[in-house]
Amino acid sequence: MRTTVGIIGAGPAGLLLARLLHRAGVDCVVLETRDRAYVERRQRAGILEQGSVDILRECGAGDRLDREGLTHRGFELRFEGEAHRVDLPSRTGGRTVTIYPQTEVVKDLIALQLAGGPPLLFDTRVVAVEKADGEQPLIRFVRGGPQGQEDTLECEFVAGCDGSYGASRRALPAGAVSMHARTYPYSWLGILADVPPSSDELLLAGHERGFALHSMRSPAVSRLYLQVPNGTDPRDWPDDRIWDELDVRLAAGNWRLRRGPVLAKSVSGLRSQVIEPMRYGRLLLAGDAAHIVPPSAAKGLNLAFGDVVTMARAFAHWHRTGSAALLDRYSDNCLRRVWQAQFFSHELTTMLHAAPGADAYDRAMQLTWLRRVTGPTAAAAELAENYAGAPLV
Ligand code: APR
Repeated sequence: MRTTVGIIGAGPAGLLLARLLHRAGVDCVVLETRDRAYVERRQRAGILEQGSVDILRECGAGDRLDREGLTHRGFELRFEGEAHRVDLPSRTGGRTVTIYPQTEVVKDLIALQLAGGPPLLFDTRVVAVEKADGEQPLIRFVRGGPQGQEDTLECEFVAGCDGSYGASRRALPAGAVSMHARTYPYSWLGILADVPPSSDELLLAGHERGFALHSMRSPAVSRLYLQVPNGTDPRDWPDDRIWDELDVRLAAGNWRLRRGPVLAKSVSGLRSQVIEPMRYGRLLLAGDAAHIVPPSAAKGLNLAFGDVVTMARAFAHWHRTGSAALLDRYSDNCLRRVWQAQFFSHELTTMLHAAPGADAYDRAMQLTWLRRVTGPTAAAAELAENYAGAPLV
């Protein structure tokens, strides 16, 4: 098999890239190790910046998003038993964010792709990327499970959109790139609950016992998180204990948290990673394959979209003109936005979490920081700007 751009991974990054390349007349093939049902069920992020909504609409994936997405014009920061609303449009020239789960974004993009888009092969595991430093890179893959047939895809370029444990990262020779990484000294215990959200907007609490987040997947399903120590076993957190702790950390005035059946429960660590540069020869990395952010500021999916918009524009330019100038600037152009998002995610995370060993001085600093970003200050405007995100194009 041959194609122009071989895309590894059918997560949001790979699927949107395929869509954008198809519209620009650039051939591509998407190889995905999992089956369609698995990819469409995988629970992940749920907040789309305005720029992400705009690009989905522009490439024809906006119909259901416009019908079912929940537009959020702000969120609340809660600390010391008080709620402080951060209004987005008034501080960002009218921008908002939209709640629309990643599962739905992925379903919409897959449906478009299967209805006349470029080939999308599920159950196809990439085992190696070879000759990325040459003119004709090669993707080796196995179709149809472990006993399946090995085959190859010859490409002019490879787009590594296969997440942080994929084959693209393994194809980077030692010393070709630098990896900057940070592991936070706390984790999130997340639940999905079959109960309507207790607030129309997201609530982020910086309680002295630790962070808590009230979010939602839809008007009927709530998503809630608690900061817990690294290594926490979810079995140590029966449902009542979780609800009681959420009550304490999210408390403000007469507000009440609605409880309901817990549908899913899991613990995940918080980490930051950046691979620099986001390119090795003719292998270009995008999304989680290139960088990870802690989930506090909901930047992961939006950053992945930013990468592939930049990458698709560079491929379209190369296809039209034969010039590789934009491809050569791909990594630098992405990394500016990536580090900006790393900075903001780190800031929001440290502002709201109780670090192990933190003392009264640390807490006073945190509260001062929280009061600054919730007052009538330039710091508050900057917070809203960063949360809403910049346009992708
Ligand atoms: N061969 C083929 N496909 C692979 C391989 C492989 N060897 N390894 C991984 N994949 C697939 C995964 O099964 C997955 O479908 O690559 C895809 C990567 O998708 P994501 O992990 O969703 O990464 P990305 O598309 O970059 O998503 C961006 O949105 O919500 C966030 O946390 C999410 O930050 C991530 C983001």
